[in-house]
Amino acid sequence: MEFEKLGAFYLGKEYDVKSNKLLDQLVMYDARDLTTHAFCVGMTGSGKTGLCINLLEEAAIDHVPALIIDPKGDVTNLLLTFPDLRPEDFRNWINVDDARRKGLTEEEYAVQQSESWRKGLQQWGQDGSRIRMLRDSTDFVIYTPGSESGVPVSILQSFSAPALSWDADSELLRQRIQGTVSALLGLIGVDADPVRSKEHILLANLFEYFWRQREDLDLLKLILAIQKPPIRQLGAFDVDTFFPYKERFQLAMNLNNIIAAPSFQSWLKGQSLEIPGFLSTPDGKPRHSIFYIAHLSDPERMFFVTMLLNQVITWMRTQPGTTSLRALLYMDEIFGFFPPVANPPSKQPMITLLKQARAFGLGVVLTTQNPIDLDYKGLTNTGTWFIGRLQTERDKMRVLDGLESASLESGGKLNKEQFGRLISSLGNRIFLLHNVHQESPVTFQTRWAMSYLRGPLTGVQVHELMKNRRPDVGTQELVSETMTPSPQPTIAESLATHPPAFSPEIRQVYVAVRKGAGEAASEIEKQTGTAIEVKTSTLLYRPTVLARGLIDFIEPRYKLNEQQSFALLAQPSPETEALSWEKALSVELAEKDLLYRPESDARFDRMPQLTGEAKQLESMRKGLPDHLCRTKTLMLLYSPALKYYSKAGEGERDFMMRLKQIGREQRDLEVDKLNDRYAKRLQTLEDRLRRLDQSVARKQADANARKTEVAVSVGESVLGMFLGRRSTRVASTALSKYRQSRTASMTVTQDKAAAENLRREIDELKKELQEEATVITDRWDQAASKLEEVPLRPSRNDVQVHLFALAWAPHWQITYYDQDKSSHTVVQPAFKAG
Ligand SMILES: Nc1ncnc2c1ncn2[C@@H]1O[C@H](COP(=O)(O)OP(=O)(O)O)[C@@H](O)[C@H]1O
Ligand SMILES: [Mg+2]
Repeated sequence: MEFEKLGAFYLGKEYDVKSNKLLDQLVMYDARDLTTHAFCVGMTGSGKTGLCINLLEEAAIDHVPALIIDPKGDVTNLLLTFPDLRPEDFRNWINVDDARRKGLTEEEYAVQQSESWRKGLQQWGQDGSRIRMLRDSTDFVIYTPGSESGVPVSILQSFSAPALSWDADSELLRQRIQGTVSALLGLIGVDADPVRSKEHILLANLFEYFWRQREDLDLLKLILAIQKPPIRQLGAFDVDTFFPYKERFQLAMNLNNIIAAPSFQSWLKGQSLEIPGFLSTPDGKPRHSIFYIAHLSDPERMFFVTMLLNQVITWMRTQPGTTSLRALLYMDEIFGFFPPVANPPSKQPMITLLKQARAFGLGVVLTTQNPIDLDYKGLTNTGTWFIGRLQTERDKMRVLDGLESASLESGGKLNKEQFGRLISSLGNRIFLLHNVHQESPVTFQTRWAMSYLRGPLTGVQVHELMKNRRPDVGTQELVSETMTPSPQPTIAESLATHPPAFSPEIRQVYVAVRKGAGEAASEIEKQTGTAIEVKTSTLLYRPTVLARGLIDFIEPRYKLNEQQSFALLAQPSPETEALSWEKALSVELAEKDLLYRPESDARFDRMPQLTGEAKQLESMRKGLPDHLCRTKTLMLLYSPALKYYSKAGEGERDFMMRLKQIGREQRDLEVDKLNDRYAKRLQTLEDRLRRLDQSVARKQADANARKTEVAVSVGESVLGMFLGRRSTRVASTALSKYRQSRTASMTVTQDKAAAENLRREIDELKKELQEEATVITDRWDQAASKLEEVPLRPSRNDVQVHLFALAWAPHWQITYYDQDKSSHTVVQPAFKAG
């Protein structure tokens, strides 16, 4: 066949609108032109979906995979391909109403439809063998997010940290976070402004916090993080100031309601939302994945489409660049997802795709029947426009304006008048094709579709088509027990085997069984001190009121910022009249100890004290903060000397060791100062001593010299007397020399004594220093040992209740015989008491 050309899509034949004639000129569309995307507009029934299904069929034959978003369910028709074109092939898929309207039996109508398809295809040069080729070339799957009618899709993955770098792609990552958060908030009915909404800012910050650390998020983790954010600061404000706990808790509750809804389970299992698995089978056959979302609510659709587009962007960015068509993304009817003024979460990723996908060979094909509600600015890069029949002049002008700016963008010029005239004369299945890669526009009629275009399929029909399909890769089953839905309270047929129907306003949880019947029996043995023979053991749920949460102990004076968790079970016992917190059991319950389903084969006790009325729970809830403030005291240790408080949870031993270390540091500091202070004085003294010692040494030498001199002088005088020399002068000289010598000796002695004094002084100073240092050391040592106890009471504002629910606490009702063969029945807890 002349239209079987690789890389060229057979869309139809040229059509002369003036003479209303189909021409024999094939419209073969170059697949590569799709990398600049295509936009298809036309009124309902103008044949848009038919045209795009043709395009997808051609892509499938050409082994180009496709992601198809199908808001109305029309594109599911891609699976209705019957190579033999037998009436019985059509029989199950015909529109029964159409048959009735035509006054035909279903069988007759099926025959007619198969005939019309055979003829239609024939007119366009096609036959069953081409249908077979289509079916063989590509795997077609209908995915149903949020439902198990088709192949379910797990959105769990979509909160995982994307494999993008914060250095290179921070803008993209932030956009993705924004979209994810908006879509998520949309699910709980919060229409949030990303810049001003507290909810949006907090969630976006949490996403960024986790994703920056390459930590995957899921809804449960997010819910916990909302209540206890790992970040303390949002902009200039403290988290609690910016978004008080109470309000955060409400947000967490609202998100939790999504998880708790039974219908949400189907969002969590199935093929994980990762693009490669939707583009090919595990063994590499190209795949067309149709995401059927007709059954979803508007926020759910928005959520899913946003998640999917985000995933596409991330996947795309990891692909090497190309100029040929790698894959298609087709959205049938983008009404509401790409509006001109509003900014729904789907819009930004769509803009990003239209801007960037080209480089990665991803062609985006969009259709709409509503040309007014469309952001044409986002379409200026779109190379191919398929314009079909339009309803009003206004629609026509709008499309022409959009096309004109797109043409200007690509350097072309649009003859608006000519186009306007052409558009006005278009019939069904006739389109005006404007392709920037082509010289001139053409009008053409779409070829007959190989798929049986019977219109939207219902969930049941989708199920029929997909019942034998299993998600192939990345199948995810529910992991967390806490995500199991709460069963709808049923009107109890018998109080014993069903939980009583409490008001649906009351949150109910089931405490996990953490103790077996055997263990409970041996506890009874311990308590009674005798061996027992168990006759029967029955798991019995008793209603209790459970409160779980955190208490903040914040005291800037003490540099204290601590949180303590609490879990209280208020258990009505047969003896006590009223239900009160005073007798409540403090239990250790982790998240995983709280289930939303009872164990099977359990019985339910109806405690008359617990009426199960919302009113009663409300009053219990009101009384809780006061009770906690009275009973939950944080005992701190205080060191008056050091002015330090122990931290919550810091034992005396640890606190002492910390104090010792602080004492040691303080002591060293003081001793350093002391040394400094003494050092100067010591230095002065020691300098003086050194000088004295030197001068003593010098004078000593001098004195010794003078002694010799005196001896010589005296000798001379004596000799002079003998020799008859003038002796007076000599004698006086000798005398003075003697005197001098004696003076010298005397100063030496004095200096020596002075030096001695100095030495003593220095020693004393050193001793003094030592003593002072000891005082300091002792003082700091003692400081660490003298502790006072400081009780710290929380205020009502410090109490955060995270979970307040009617909790079914499991017990073992054990009937046993004692040694005397008398029978007893006791009830033992089957849960962990703290
Ligand atoms: N290419 C085609 N081959 C056969 N029938 C077609 C084709 N295109 C449209 N039709 C018929 O016209 C009907 C309406 O066309 P459709 O593509 O669904 O319109 P739109 O999507 O613009 O509302 C289809 O249900 C089908 O019966
Ligand atoms: Mg359509």
